Amino acid sequence: MSKDQKQYSELQGGVGRAVHFRTERFRSRALLGELSPELWVGDARARLYDVSMNGLSFYVPPSEAPGDGLEVPIRLLLDGEEGFRGSARVVRTDVEGGLVKIGATIVSGFIDIPRLVSLHDNAAFERSVSAGSRRYSSVPADYSASVHAASVFLAHWSRLLDERERRLVDDGASPEAVLRLELRLEEQMRREWREVRARANETSRVCYEDAATLLAAKRLTELLVTPQLRVAPLWWDAYTKPLGYPGDFRMMTYMYESDRRGDTMFGRIMHQLGREERLAWTVTSRKELMLEQLARAIRATQGEGPVRIASLASGPAREIQEFLERYDGSRRLEFTLIDQDDRALSYAYERLIRASARLGDRVRVTCLFTSFRQLIGNPELLEQLGNHDFIYSAGFFDYLDAATASRVAENCMKLVRPGGRGLFGNAAVSDDVHWVPEFVLDWRLTLRTRDELVAAMPTKGISSVEPLADASDAWHFVELTRSA
Ligand SMILES: C[S@@+](CC[C@H](N)C(=O)[O-])C[C@H]1O[C@@H](n2cnc3c(N)ncnc32)[C@H](O)[C@@H]1O
Repeated sequence: MSKDQKQYSELQGGVGRAVHFRTERFRSRALLGELSPELWVGDARARLYDVSMNGLSFYVPPSEAPGDGLEVPIRLLLDGEEGFRGSARVVRTDVEGGLVKIGATIVSGFIDIPRLVSLHDNAAFERSVSAGSRRYSSVPADYSASVHAASVFLAHWSRLLDERERRLVDDGASPEAVLRLELRLEEQMRREWREVRARANETSRVCYEDAATLLAAKRLTELLVTPQLRVAPLWWDAYTKPLGYPGDFRMMTYMYESDRRGDTMFGRIMHQLGREERLAWTVTSRKELMLEQLARAIRATQGEGPVRIASLASGPAREIQEFLERYDGSRRLEFTLIDQDDRALSYAYERLIRASARLGDRVRVTCLFTSFRQLIGNPELLEQLGNHDFIYSAGFFDYLDAATASRVAENCMKLVRPGGRGLFGNAAVSDDVHWVPEFVLDWRLTLRTRDELVAAMPTKGISSVEPLADASDAWHFVELTRSA
């Protein structure tokens, strides 16, 4: 993962920037992905989770956990080189899966992030130089064979199709003739690709057994498979993350819209096969579920006043757009879109205003350019945002660890009126979905079982917790009702 790429828990919106400054946080695996940093908290070894210029968080076993408010000595090393030495005060403690996650603020000096990055990059470079191409030798043989098969598939078809396309262009073939051929070849490639990816999914499972094997296997895939997908927009944007984080609104649009994108036949076919990847293909059935839930929220809200609905991490807000395109205006609606990316908000806002233009003042859309972190740290904003009838989030919890997911759900429910509902979704655990995102696209998702998602939900002040699934079963949702 490139260090320019951000994790969802560290993305910052705009409100926070304006209201109070907070330094950027980096997940350790995004910043220092190739090497495991060595973190010492006093005499105890800890696992670094994230780091910013003036703070860090880490995991320790319960027996080693320093108490709240305590000042502790911190030492951070990379490949034996000291990256930081100082002390930090414990400001937050969460229990997570048998470990304690500590949040601490630096009290002496600061963490020099660019220096950490450069220490990391130099050490990683030297390791790669001394390992040479043997760095891939720990990749399990079955998985290497799958990578080889995928690479041969891509090389074979791109060459064949590119040659044919050049010939067709030279012969002055019509766009219709090119499309006919493209669709025929797509059928053939789809069958073969499904076998290739099924085998890669299957053989990649063993790579998770240890971190070094996983890293070597991912790097091998990025070396041999990913670059061959450069001409297929969905794959290449998913890998390079041009907006700096995975799953941006443009990527979501690739998934929601069936346009054939790409400059070559091969690129367009692979773009389409990328759309058919399970977690991409099923965003439309996830959207259908949200459409139903929007209608339900309106039916369930009594009284004459507007129905207030908020979407957290709203992205392109496609479901609201489609909902408004069909809405009869019988109730006044107020939507609040919350996202850390103002480009996503402008994209969505423009479409929602168009979709509701005929309804005049029956529909109001407000955009909040902020991250959930800033939102929950800002009592004034929380106050303004209270009393929603329904708040929901899809395509967001998949990027959060359990403690953060719980905190987000808990805070979202504070924005809901008594008797109102929250709905939170997460990609479901499944054997056949990890190879493409994790290995080919370096796009890490936290898949959850239904029970894991339910377990991450708050219970205090909640009168019911109901699991739901979309028609594809690729996504789990949990519906929470706030006690009346
Ligand atoms: C995968 S998209 C999902 C969008 C939309 N909910 C959907 O289902 O189409 C995730 C969105 O979460 C936003 N996001 C990521 N981290 C965030 C944060 N910390 N606070 C608010 N929004 C965030 C991103 O900007 C992006 O628009």
